[in-house]
Amino acid sequence: MKFFRMRLILALVMGITLISVASTYFEVLAHKHVLRQELVRRTAWQGKSLQLEMEKAVAGGQSAGIAAEAALRRSQNEALGLAVYDMQEGLVTEAGPAGVFGALPRGPLDKAIKQGIDSSAFGHLGNQQWLEEAIPLYVDGRMAGALVILEDARFIHAEGVLVWRQSFWRIAAFVLLIVCVTLLMVRWFLMRPMMVVTDRLKRLRMGQSADDADENLAELSLFTPLVHEVELMAESLMGARAAAETEARLRDAGEHQWTAERLAVHIRERFGSSRIFVLSNREPYMHVLQGRETVCMVPPSGLVTAIEPVLRACDGVWVAHGSGSEDALNVDEFDRLRVPPDDPRYTLRRVWLSSEEEAGYYDGFANEGLWPLCHIAHTRPIFRASDWEYYQRVNEKFAAALLEEMEGSANPIVFVQDYHFALAPRLIKAARPDARVAIFWHIPWPNPEAFGICPWQAELLDGLLGADLIGFHIPLFCNNFLSTVDRVLESRTDREHMTARRGRHTSAVRPYPVSVALEGSKPERKTPEPSREELLKEFGLRCETLIVGVDRMDYTKGIVERLMAVEKLIEEHPFYLERLTMVQIAAPSRSRIPSYVNLRRQVEEIVERINQRYQTASWKPILLIERQCSHAEVDLWYRAAALCLVTSLHDGMNLVAKEYVAARDDEDGVLVLSKFAGAATELLDALIINPYDAEGVAEAIHRGLEMDRDERRMRMQRMRQHVMDHNIYRWAASILGDLRDLRMETPEPADPGRALPASVSPSEIVHRKLAQKAGIR
Ligand code: G6P
Repeated sequence: MKFFRMRLILALVMGITLISVASTYFEVLAHKHVLRQELVRRTAWQGKSLQLEMEKAVAGGQSAGIAAEAALRRSQNEALGLAVYDMQEGLVTEAGPAGVFGALPRGPLDKAIKQGIDSSAFGHLGNQQWLEEAIPLYVDGRMAGALVILEDARFIHAEGVLVWRQSFWRIAAFVLLIVCVTLLMVRWFLMRPMMVVTDRLKRLRMGQSADDADENLAELSLFTPLVHEVELMAESLMGARAAAETEARLRDAGEHQWTAERLAVHIRERFGSSRIFVLSNREPYMHVLQGRETVCMVPPSGLVTAIEPVLRACDGVWVAHGSGSEDALNVDEFDRLRVPPDDPRYTLRRVWLSSEEEAGYYDGFANEGLWPLCHIAHTRPIFRASDWEYYQRVNEKFAAALLEEMEGSANPIVFVQDYHFALAPRLIKAARPDARVAIFWHIPWPNPEAFGICPWQAELLDGLLGADLIGFHIPLFCNNFLSTVDRVLESRTDREHMTARRGRHTSAVRPYPVSVALEGSKPERKTPEPSREELLKEFGLRCETLIVGVDRMDYTKGIVERLMAVEKLIEEHPFYLERLTMVQIAAPSRSRIPSYVNLRRQVEEIVERINQRYQTASWKPILLIERQCSHAEVDLWYRAAALCLVTSLHDGMNLVAKEYVAARDDEDGVLVLSKFAGAATELLDALIINPYDAEGVAEAIHRGLEMDRDERRMRMQRMRQHVMDHNIYRWAASILGDLRDLRMETPEPADPGRALPASVSPSEIVHRKLAQKAGIR
């Protein structure tokens, strides 16, 4: 650092001195030029008056010598000497310093006598400097000789020296000032940020949290991009350290826990050169406008946590609907982009849908048809033929995009997500028999009677059976699915091996309970967390006990039933008046669909009614937060709540239950969980309730709030252990591992009737379908 400073100072001194000397040099030249011109002008003017005087004196018979002496005396202060020359350039008379006129150059005199014009020149003798001015003299109209005036010009040199002297001090002061200012700037704007960053890195290297330095970092707006990069680096450093520690701990304990890193290694080792392709409706990264700025956000979904390490490990491809308002502006000409934006490791291929397609396929068939069909929540499914058309068309469109991405990849692995793409497995497998295809159904599968009301159940089942592996959350859904296949399709199901065989293809049907990313290591709290009081203060409320519910605003979640149960609790136990508040976070969802609009209105009305009934100035029994909250925000509520309520009327798994358990690293808190959520088959230490039984739920809440600390801790410890052992990484590893291990029949050649060559554009597919329907060949 010292060396850097020395070099900087040296460079500054040399640079500034050089520039200043050059500028002074030109300044002196200009100044001298002005002084010379001024002297020439003054001497010429003086010469003119002397010329007249001399001519008059000579014409009046006076001797030129006497006249010159007299003139010199008068101009004592100005002229140094005067001389008169005759026409032969002989010196007639001189006045002034002795011997000077003899040594004069003859140039100006020559010009005056020979050409009859005034002439001047600067000359010097030793350190004597002068200006010589020669002027012709006329007597009676005829040239009679010349007058030469000598002017002292030493002051011009003296003035130049003065300017140099003054400049020297100015340059010195200037250099000093600039060096000081630069050193200060280096210190403030370079050294300080560097010290902060260095300090941060040092502390991270030593395994300490670096977040208390945030205040300093905020100051360094100029260095924000650098700081951001350092942050990212630090994060991966900390992540790698935590992963290594966890791995070491796991090895030491001989445990079988899964981490993101272990999943990545597993994928690399097991899948070798096979590439993995994921198909889902929701994309992992979405470009949207925030104010005037485009931001890239991760839609709240547990799927990204599980799938990202997999795709990162093999540089895979994720095909999904580009639903962000700015998505189309952030892809290349093939509708692709590399993600995550901060550390690109895999490809996201966006597929575009028209508003009609979205309305028919997503709002209509998927969410007004299949969603209520599979969830027994007493909301009637709506099946429209036009929605079914769109559902098929969009499945074909996504399959075509996926096949396009798969071109050139041998033995690809395809992992399709959810009820939006029941037809895709068959389409993909028909075009690429060498692909291993799995689909995971993230929602329940009802019994065959319930499923049977779907007019296109056979087509949906046939589409699904194109997959080599079909995953559900729990064994019950697998059994329901096999029973439905049995009843609807010509096929052979095998309950012992959990398979369904249709034609020459066998699909394995297995349970894989989805989960959250809880790992062994305890997360370090970055900043002190707000307390319950602080969280509620924002809403002008106070309470002694907080309970929480977190859901999408969806009729399957039993939000209305939950509110009724809380009302019942207060009725039965007025002790909770002004003491207990339930915070209900409800993220708006599928808000174009009438049943969702109605639910929202109903929830708001009930909350209003209950609050009106009991609330005081600073307390409310229910606080409804209707917006999408980040994971971090939700975690704060989870940790501040004594109890979490999950009252789904029917749910594939319900990750809120597991998220609550994962958030409670203090091993406290009670989970009240619906028996109709898949999670109830795993989280046996929750208080299991029937959401339709308001009294039962109220009693369970009461019991949970009364439970002693030891029992709470014991239950929470067991649930945490379970979630840790069965986390999201194990889920992904199990499905993909099983898919890898499946014994595949020799691939049949692609079925041209069903295959969708990747080159076929979506509009061609639709056209072909319509033509087939109309019987046109
Ligand atoms: C359920 C589905 C997911 C879906 C999520 C959010 O969990 O199984 O596939 O992504 O709800 O719903 P949305 O319609 O907003 O994607």
